[in-house]
Amino acid sequence: MTRHGSRSRDRAPGRRHRGSAERAALATPHGARVAVYPGSFDPVTRGHEDLIRRALTFADRVIVAVAVNVAKQPLFTLEERVALLRQVVDRPEVDVRAFDGLLADFARGVGAAVIVRGLRAVSDFEYEFQMALMNRNLAPGIETVFLVPAFDLTYLSSSLVREVARFGGDVAPLVHPAVQQALRHKFTR
Ligand code: PNS
Repeated sequence: MTRHGSRSRDRAPGRRHRGSAERAALATPHGARVAVYPGSFDPVTRGHEDLIRRALTFADRVIVAVAVNVAKQPLFTLEERVALLRQVVDRPEVDVRAFDGLLADFARGVGAAVIVRGLRAVSDFEYEFQMALMNRNLAPGIETVFLVPAFDLTYLSSSLVREVARFGGDVAPLVHPAVQQALRHKFTR
């Protein structure tokens, strides 16, 4: 397999079902600079939104890649996480896709030049550093770029948002109203 996904292009003619990475690659204009922004997004927060806006300052297209398999049992299903992101980030240059398996394979499949990750605090660094090096090992042509969120969002995380919402705290400043409503729905059932 070559760097930009020739494995999928080499498949036998007549194959009908394309993977999400393949479909995204086909939808991308030739020469466009594609950034992949991966995560669990359980749920998407104002911090994620901020990072997507920042990524668009250097990328023509941002593919928000929602991980199918996340470490812990997520609060929101994959379909809910994707649907909320699509509601919250409604811009033509941003595409929201689910991905399964290795991030490096997905990023290569969509022709990404960079993988974007947010760095909020020193505590994020070790995990992010390891992940960036592993992804470079798996996909040497793709750089990981770390972005720093707006100062007033640096403390924000999906897990904190879930916890505050679970105990009835006000999450209005932390998430889009659609996410606030979805959280309320989850915790008042
Ligand atoms: O929002 P998160 O939970 O910090 O996102 C982590 C995520 C989903 C980006 C990471 O776990 C991931 O890339 N998973 C896909 C599997 C993979 O490629 N693992 C090896 C990474 S070095």
